[in-house]
Amino acid sequence: MNYDYEYFKESADYILSKINFRPSIGIVLGSCLGELSDEIENQVIIDYDEIPNFLKSTVKSHAGRLILGQLKGKDVICMSGRFHYYEGYEFEQLVIPIRVFKLLGVETVILTNAAGAINISYNTGDIMLIEDHIKFMGSSPLRGNNFDEFGPRFFDMSNAYDRELREIVKKSAKDLGINLKEGIYFYAEGPQFETPAEIRAMRAMGADAVGMSTVTEVITAIHCNIKVIGLSLISNMAAGVLNNRVTAEEVDIVASQSAEKFKRLVNEIVKKI
Ligand code: HPA
Repeated sequence: MNYDYEYFKESADYILSKINFRPSIGIVLGSCLGELSDEIENQVIIDYDEIPNFLKSTVKSHAGRLILGQLKGKDVICMSGRFHYYEGYEFEQLVIPIRVFKLLGVETVILTNAAGAINISYNTGDIMLIEDHIKFMGSSPLRGNNFDEFGPRFFDMSNAYDRELREIVKKSAKDLGINLKEGIYFYAEGPQFETPAEIRAMRAMGADAVGMSTVTEVITAIHCNIKVIGLSLISNMAAGVLNNRVTAEEVDIVASQSAEKFKRLVNEIVKKI
């Protein structure tokens, strides 16, 4: 793709023309977690379709709009609907939303997703705080020309899921009486769910949950010095863990059922950061 800095700036300038504040927290909502944005006050809603150079969401359970406003007194931007490699985007295109966040002034992102449990001690409906990730599939979203305006060519990923922020998440969960897991997220390209043999291999490598999103956003955020919190809703046990099939319906049902708990946690985290 032939991007330059102006390409991202055009999207950001369009968004800035619709608001009179600069969001400091970005929230990306995963499958069926859309109602998290309900409590944002003074909402300004912008459809992805209207934003120059932005991507279009193609997944049914992802709404495709930005919601800007105040949550717990903080200026936030919320992406309801995200972009995945399996939709046909190139990895290099998946940098767009996070770079636009950066140009708007975002300093911290809360990235949420639905994921399958590889760790057999997890249950559906659990929330896993992402401690770290494994991405062995596909290329980096930062392949190609480096934009020094955003960050250096080579950069450190050893504290990608910021340690201090993870402590805040744990405290938030504790205060709300929510049982929080903490584990390693394995990035899978999808759109097919994994085979049982793939899940066993991921477990052997140290993964606790698997999903098809988030990691490209984390890499882009760390490159441009945005801090990251990652939260997975365990929507199903991964392939072969139980004797049943993995279905998109199950993922959507569990995600919707747990949306309320998830919302309370995210609100509390926003309050504390
Ligand atoms: N595998 C990959 N992605 C997922 C899963 C899964 O089991 N559940 C939700 N997203």
